Amino acid sequence: MAKQKVAVIFGGRSSEHDVSNVSAAHVIRSIPKDEYEVITIGITGRGHWVRYIGSLEQIVDGSWEQHPDNVPCILSPDPLHKGFILLESDGTFNDLKVDCVFPVLHGKNGEDGTIQGLLALSGIPFVGCDMISSANCMDKEMTHVILEAAGIPMAKYIAMRRRDMDKIDEVIAEAEAKLSYPMFVKPCCAGSSVGVSRVSNAGEMREGIKLAFTADNKLLIEEGVKGVECECAVMGNAQPFASAVGEIKSANEGFYDFESKYENDSSETLIPARISETASERVRETALKAFKAIGCEGLARCDFFLCEGDRPVLNEINTMPGHTPISMYPKLMEHAGLSPSEQEDRLIQLAMERQI
Ligand SMILES: Nc1ncnc2c1ncn2[C@@H]1O[C@H](COP(=O)(O)OP(=O)(O)O)[C@@H](O)[C@H]1O
Ligand SMILES: [Mg+2]
Repeated sequence: MAKQKVAVIFGGRSSEHDVSNVSAAHVIRSIPKDEYEVITIGITGRGHWVRYIGSLEQIVDGSWEQHPDNVPCILSPDPLHKGFILLESDGTFNDLKVDCVFPVLHGKNGEDGTIQGLLALSGIPFVGCDMISSANCMDKEMTHVILEAAGIPMAKYIAMRRRDMDKIDEVIAEAEAKLSYPMFVKPCCAGSSVGVSRVSNAGEMREGIKLAFTADNKLLIEEGVKGVECECAVMGNAQPFASAVGEIKSANEGFYDFESKYENDSSETLIPARISETASERVRETALKAFKAIGCEGLARCDFFLCEGDRPVLNEINTMPGHTPISMYPKLMEHAGLSPSEQEDRLIQLAMERQI
């Protein structure tokens, strides 16, 4: 039987472009080549799409963008094409049909429903959550609204839009009236802790608000939650399963910021988390409940704080969690008994099984 063609899309116009490169190289390396032919499609930092043919090393280090053989391409929204259109240098167009797309893109323009909407139009099966659940998980205010309605505990918060910047004093007063310090100011739609600050007074909050608005037009001010940061990986469509719980030991205690995530070697992920059996069961149950309530499919990583009394408080859901060799999602799934190849195979199969 002919191998199925899977297009892995990576890079992207997002602050997490570099993380996507590393995730994608791991995914491409792991996809079983006896079953699938992998087509590599890069989106440059400026948003240009190219069909890339070259080494995985150049994907990891980002130099794929300058590869001389890159061919500009577009994903056709017309389901007649079911694939990409290559814009060859001699001015001709070539169809590149694919059976499935694996968008290994993190953050804005990749994990937020934009590309999922385009893929839905194209009629090509794709890995991961659909447009609406991706968008609702990306927008931290929407995540709060939907999951609180489903009875899932989350931090107390207020939201602020950029257009209300002239009322910043009122917003700070409202935050101080409703929430207690320390608080976290974070852009609604970002990731990798970009633009997130922990603040302990009004002056710091003002700076935090300005910083968060460099990443998005809407932000949340949340009450700081004291607890063990832990994460649970979920996979499946109608009957998803939850992995064991992993624990984050951030180099910067109490704040898993960008530096602790990617630059500080003393941050650790522990699998399983050092929590009780009861706590672990509660986290896994809540992860599945949240996954279903917000309409996720395929995969997601649900992030929690485990508070005193073994109470899980949900922080956020990542619909295309990091897939680097040291990322929590693939490690938790390996712990659940799925090798990297089995994970990618499963995710592609879940995409093909789903009605779009
Ligand atoms: N309400 C909160 N209480 C305690 N810590 C928080 C809170 N919100 C965020 N953090 C800290 O900031 C980090 C990044 O925030 P998060 O909401 O996960 O944004 P991102 O989408 O950028 O990962 C978290 O991993 C956690 O360490
Ligand atoms: Mg996070």
